[in-house]
Amino acid sequence: MEIRPEKVAVVGIGYVGLPVACMFASKGFRTVGLDISQERVDMINRGVCPIGGEEPGLKELMERMVSTDMLTASVDYSSIQDADLIAVCVDTPVDDDKKPVLRSIIASVTSIGRNLKKGATVSIESTIPPGTMIGTVIPILEKESGMRAGSDFHVLHCPERVMPGRLLANLREYKRVLGGIDEASIRKGMYFYSSYVESEILPTDLICAEISKTGENAYRDVQIAFANEMALICERLGADVFKVRELINSSPFRDMHIPGSGVGGYCLPKDSWLLVSNAREEADLIVRARAVNEKMPYHLVDLFKDAIAELDEGKGKRKVAIMGIAFLRDSDDTRNTPAAVVIESIKDDFDLVAHDPYVREFLGMDIEDDIYVAMKDCDAAIFVTDHSEYRNMDFNRMRMSLRNPVIIDGRNLFDAHECRRAGFIYRAIGKKH
Ligand SMILES: NC(=O)c1ccc[n+]([C@@H]2O[C@H](COP(=O)([O-])OP(=O)(O)OC[C@H]3O[C@@H](n4cnc5c(N)ncnc54)[C@H](O)[C@@H]3O)[C@@H](O)[C@H]2O)c1
Repeated sequence: MEIRPEKVAVVGIGYVGLPVACMFASKGFRTVGLDISQERVDMINRGVCPIGGEEPGLKELMERMVSTDMLTASVDYSSIQDADLIAVCVDTPVDDDKKPVLRSIIASVTSIGRNLKKGATVSIESTIPPGTMIGTVIPILEKESGMRAGSDFHVLHCPERVMPGRLLANLREYKRVLGGIDEASIRKGMYFYSSYVESEILPTDLICAEISKTGENAYRDVQIAFANEMALICERLGADVFKVRELINSSPFRDMHIPGSGVGGYCLPKDSWLLVSNAREEADLIVRARAVNEKMPYHLVDLFKDAIAELDEGKGKRKVAIMGIAFLRDSDDTRNTPAAVVIESIKDDFDLVAHDPYVREFLGMDIEDDIYVAMKDCDAAIFVTDHSEYRNMDFNRMRMSLRNPVIIDGRNLFDAHECRRAGFIYRAIGKKH
């Protein structure tokens, strides 16, 4: 591999920053990954990948980059003083009131400003509320460095589009939006990012880049909310939303999404709030869509309570199996999972047992990894996630394991007629009760 003259620093080496650092290193840039977590830094320097789950190629690439000294990790900001590109990938959550928390952005940009060399390029890759580049990032960089953005250093907002499970492939294959403060910054960005982005790089200004990133996730959230609302309408009117969806999508230019027990993950539940945070009065639909999606796990709980009311009065506490803890099919990611709402809503009144093929512990509960053992002596099974394992369930074994044959289906895993013919009390999101 040809070693390039420029050095890259990636600040924040979590789900996004670590694969980004590996990519730059693999393209010949000597790269330092900077984080405030000593534990994470030590792991990386030992060649141990801190990201779990199925992440094709990441562990191997990281090991190779660390063993050849192309990638090192550090907690010391002085290690970025000779960096030509500083890519910022720190977390940008919202608080309990859905207000953006910019603590990590402000802290990292302050330290970067104090250690910035003349002529370097600072690229914010984190997802940020529109207006943050001009209102927060650039003023801090200028104040701390004593230099002028545009004339003394370059500034970019180059937001990430990756999904856990395909981090490296997404980095390489997806088109990339590149917002710059000026033409010179964009030219620098083109040079660095075209080293590993194999798809188109789309230059724009800072505010368009900020709005497009938060907007693309808000758009998806709104589309899912429409599907969820259609599911509730179909339940009320006695139709199967999944059949209705096929019919709707047979019409030109229609692409209705799939309804379900809720939207989870790190990004979708928060990025709508980042988008509207500085334009709250204009945002109506996007905020309503969030409310619709947040309601879905509670609706799943209502379906469960409705079904359990059909059972004879039993003695003692009833026992319920929560099937699927991760927010995403075949993933171990539990961030903002709808399963948390379901568990919190019923844990005081029911004994709970949880099953997931990939998650081992959640909210202090041990997770069972055998489906039928998890269901043993339960009065109901609530399917929250559509793990592939749940697609080919054996109805006889389910009936033998469960004490009462109640299935609550949050992900269209089962056919309603088949379930009822097999003697189950069946409730599902988007289907006639
Ligand atoms: N996770 C995703 O799938 C995904 C996808 C697209 C965009 N994003 C966006 O990328 C950003 C990062 O997300 P993530 O999932 O990698 O988060 P993460 O929590 O996995 O990683 C963030 C890292 O930043 C570090 N950090 C915090 N403050 C710091 C500081 N002052 N200096 C140095 N390091 C600091 C943390 O210790 C942590 O290791 C967020 O803005 C997120 O919205 C995430």
